[in-house]
Amino acid sequence: MINFAIIGCGHIAKKHAEQIAATEEANLIAVCDKIPEAMVPFTEQYHVEAYQDYDEMLKDCRIDVICICTPSGLHAPLAVKAAQAKKHVIVEKPIALTLEDADLIIKACKENGVKLSVVHPNRFRPAIMKLKQAMDEGRFGKLSHANATVRWNRNQAYYDQAPWRGTKALDGGVLMNQAIHNLDLLLWIVGDIEEVYSMQATRLRNIEAEDVSVGVVRFKNGALGVIEAATTIYPKNFEESFSVFGESGTVKISGRTANNIAHWDIESMSVEETQAIIKEIENDPFGQPGHKWIIQDMVNAIKEDREPIVSGVDGKNALALVLALYESAERNQPVKLG
Ligand SMILES: NC(=O)c1ccc[n+]([C@@H]2O[C@H](COP(=O)([O-])OP(=O)(O)OC[C@H]3O[C@@H](n4cnc5c(N)ncnc54)[C@H](O)[C@@H]3O)[C@@H](O)[C@H]2O)c1
Repeated sequence: MINFAIIGCGHIAKKHAEQIAATEEANLIAVCDKIPEAMVPFTEQYHVEAYQDYDEMLKDCRIDVICICTPSGLHAPLAVKAAQAKKHVIVEKPIALTLEDADLIIKACKENGVKLSVVHPNRFRPAIMKLKQAMDEGRFGKLSHANATVRWNRNQAYYDQAPWRGTKALDGGVLMNQAIHNLDLLLWIVGDIEEVYSMQATRLRNIEAEDVSVGVVRFKNGALGVIEAATTIYPKNFEESFSVFGESGTVKISGRTANNIAHWDIESMSVEETQAIIKEIENDPFGQPGHKWIIQDMVNAIKEDREPIVSGVDGKNALALVLALYESAERNQPVKLG
């Protein structure tokens, strides 16, 4: 059994707890929050130890893995402490809000010989995995461009739930909080990015960070990309889609949460092969919950002593892309990635 603990008992911690419970070789044994009442649902449902003091929890030598589920700007110090206490780390996205903080986490995990995984669960959506496989098989030929679109609704009440939401110091806007998953997909599926140009605005929400962002990118392989992300869509989540256009293939994954195949046309695939893929996704558009993949993968990574599928460096690369888009919008200039 691999024993897990969670710090930050808010919304996303519930998914971690559920999926730890759903994983055979995993066991939730402790939670930590600065607000004691936040821990009550977890102690009641999972009969786990509750720690208000993180340092005390880190002394619990039964704990193997810590899930960091606090506001984003607080991930780094908590993840570093976990690594120093020789606990493996699962950190919610974004890994951190600055590259310096991301580096501190990656370095601490490396130096202390513990695993690090960042929660980018969209990679495990069934349709996205099919697209990744087709790309890895070279089915698209030379790429023309790709498109990541997040047209969602986060109303003012969402931002008003907690003082950290929508702030630059602890959260960021639609790119850092919501669309970072789709930026991770662009990097994972299409490849490294050389240059970005973006415009952003805060149009409809009373927050410090951006609620709408548009941008273009050039991949190192020469293909172009378009990123559109907004939490301003009236009246509810409208679309999350991901498209790839190549000389011998066109695929669009769409729906409210990029779970459906809207279009799949690949030259080297027979009609039967294509229909089989479309049918498979229609029958099971959501698959296993993304957080389950992340938890199970951490268990396997520990047992097999290998890097988790979504590594700390992957988390840092997605963050670097967000920060480049921010810098471009602020300077009103294209920005090259380091
Ligand atoms: N992967 C995903 O799909 C996904 C979805 C939602 C949120 N998230 C990420 O999860 C993180 C948390 O988001 P949330 O919506 O659960 O937030 P939340 O506000 O609901 O919960 C945060 C919890 O952390 C606690 N906390 C804050 N500072 C603390 C500290 N120093 N020590 C202990 N506890 C502390 C708060 O009391 C609160 O209970 C964010 O980084 C967010 O970006 C990821």
